[in-house]
Amino acid sequence: MKRKLIPLLICPACLPKEQPLELDSSRVRDGDIISGELSCRKCRKRFPIRDGIAVLTPEPESGTSAGQWKYEESGTVDRYLWSHYADLMNAPDAGDAYAAWASLLAPHSDISLDAGCAVGRLAFEMSLRSELAIGCDLSPLFIRTARRLARERSISFSLPLEGNLRESFRFELPAAWRSDTVEFIVADAQALPFAAGTFQQISSLNLVDRVRYPLAHLFDINRVARSSGAFFLFSDPFSWSTANTAEELWLGGMPGGPNAGRGIDNIRALLTGKQKIIAPAWLITRQGSVNWRLRSHSNHYEMIRSEFLAAER
Ligand SMILES: C[S@@+](CC[C@H](N)C(=O)[O-])C[C@H]1O[C@@H](n2cnc3c(N)ncnc32)[C@H](O)[C@@H]1O
Repeated sequence: MKRKLIPLLICPACLPKEQPLELDSSRVRDGDIISGELSCRKCRKRFPIRDGIAVLTPEPESGTSAGQWKYEESGTVDRYLWSHYADLMNAPDAGDAYAAWASLLAPHSDISLDAGCAVGRLAFEMSLRSELAIGCDLSPLFIRTARRLARERSISFSLPLEGNLRESFRFELPAAWRSDTVEFIVADAQALPFAAGTFQQISSLNLVDRVRYPLAHLFDINRVARSSGAFFLFSDPFSWSTANTAEELWLGGMPGGPNAGRGIDNIRALLTGKQKIIAPAWLITRQGSVNWRLRSHSNHYEMIRSEFLAAER
């Protein structure tokens, strides 16, 4: 983890109180903390940095949570690598989802965060438009892969071609994409280890229907975004499922109750301050959808329509 992140960090276990974290011991190479420990003087929790990866979840040693296990399989990493970077390999069925989302980002911001970044594509896109871009995800395997990509600048993987046949892939990051201005950490998008108002630009793509507490995720995204001069890119297919989220906590897809109706309408109402939960209110500047793809084998793809809101305040 880059040393320059330290002043931005707070203890995720002490939220809503914001307590700084201190670096107790560390092994540093070229401004990168390779191993060490961050600790909170208040609650005395310790957060490890191993192989350059900081684990900044409220319970750093508890491993991945229920519903999250599927992201820890290597096949899932390979599917996400294809989904995020197929266009860089000119794969025939790549699509342009990430270019479409990237085109909705602000042209320049000082510090950006992509929450639930998986293998990092949007964080790299942010690094082109920011002085510092951070991707966070609950999956250590995704974060390890994104960090490896930032360090080695290329990666090889394979996916099923048909049956037991495999197809190999390799890609390189374009020269303009920055490794020195991008960082990846393990963190929970419902308890982000950053002080209020840290980020000028923030994104949450295909995440709100994956977390246990969707409203807590939106609330925390809102907390770490600046109260003015900020940009937020939200996108989701609203594939609500009790495997991730108890039905009463879904923010849409219900015939009655407090979150009746469509997720996109409810989230638009939340962001624009209608329920007085999210403040200061956001102004929606763009609304639409992006189709993104996950590949199963050469003749089989999952197409997901993700509805987006681009917002400013
Ligand atoms: C459907 S994927 C979307 C990944 C990426 N944003 C994209 O659009 O390609 C959901 C991602 O959210 C991550 N995730 C799930 N729950 C999370 C949480 N509470 N905090 C941070 N990341 C989480 C998963 O590990 C996974 O990478």
